[in-house]
Amino acid sequence: MSKQKIIICKELEEDLKTVISSHKFDKLFILTDNHTSRHCLPLTKNIDFIHKASEITIGVEDTNKNLDTLAYVWSELSQRGATRHSLLINLGGGMVTDLGGFAAATFKRGIQFINIPTTLLSMVDAAVGGKTGINFNGLKNEIGAFAPASEVIIDSEFLKTLDYENIMSGYAEMLKHGLISNYDNWKELIQFDFSKDIDYKSLQTLIGKSVGIKENVVEQDPFEKGIRKSLNLGHTVGHAFESYSLRGKNHSLHGYAVAWGLVCELYLSHIRVGFPSDRLRQTVTFVKEHYGKLGFTCKDYETLYELMTHDKKNESANSVNFTLLSDVGEIKINQIVSKQEIFESLDFYSETMG
Ligand code: GLY
Repeated sequence: MSKQKIIICKELEEDLKTVISSHKFDKLFILTDNHTSRHCLPLTKNIDFIHKASEITIGVEDTNKNLDTLAYVWSELSQRGATRHSLLINLGGGMVTDLGGFAAATFKRGIQFINIPTTLLSMVDAAVGGKTGINFNGLKNEIGAFAPASEVIIDSEFLKTLDYENIMSGYAEMLKHGLISNYDNWKELIQFDFSKDIDYKSLQTLIGKSVGIKENVVEQDPFEKGIRKSLNLGHTVGHAFESYSLRGKNHSLHGYAVAWGLVCELYLSHIRVGFPSDRLRQTVTFVKEHYGKLGFTCKDYETLYELMTHDKKNESANSVNFTLLSDVGEIKINQIVSKQEIFESLDFYSETMG
């Protein structure tokens, strides 16, 4: 997989102009959603290239990440004369960068594309690392391809359009990156001050580090045969929490479910491979203070376990495969954990999260 260039912006218009001019293309397309078309595209209003670009806009809700929307993007590209030498810019959150990336990867067997993620979650995760795709038959990211953007342009200015919950949702992936990488990064993340107005400059510095961690993992293992599985930390339990919440009235944001999943998976890391108890306690305190708690009782354990066994990463239907840590930055992939241990981690969650 080719390496993508990550640009942490100093000045969006200047950086974007430089990136676009470095490409040879006949036509420029820009994929937006209803929200980014109104609130983010105007931030690029002084760029000549963008004025001349052809904008394709899709619905903002995640339900649009489907085959119909993909077909719509393909047909707009086709009807508006896109060729193999056209360039697509995806301006939006994970839905836009995943679907737009897949549209670009498949249109005329692949055209070049640039990602400009506008949510924290997409800046530190979805837009980086080359995973593209759509949901299909009720399954998340069921159809897709590994196809990296040529550049990912990251500007924390876009984050000013996000509410606190969406910032915290993306931050959970950053916390995960800290945990799988090194003590200093993890410590900086759990000490970041959210009690007053967010310092976007400092946040952008942390985003740069976080993206660097993901890039480094993806570079070692682009197709997720080994170490890239570390990026699944918190997600095995997290996806079960997310699906469980979707069945009720209060839907959890992805990152909230991941943060809660980290609590259980660090507990499993502690009992199975010796993750230090003080670091477990500090991480749990951070999650408790910033993410609150998903409510469930022990009557829901079977349902949650069942959801975990459906995780794509499992090799058999009756086992659950985890990435665990023996310390911050010490990764243990392919850990098969028993049902009893998983239930114990749910007990730990209920007791410590209050
Ligand atoms: N979101 C996890 C990965 O990119 O592998």
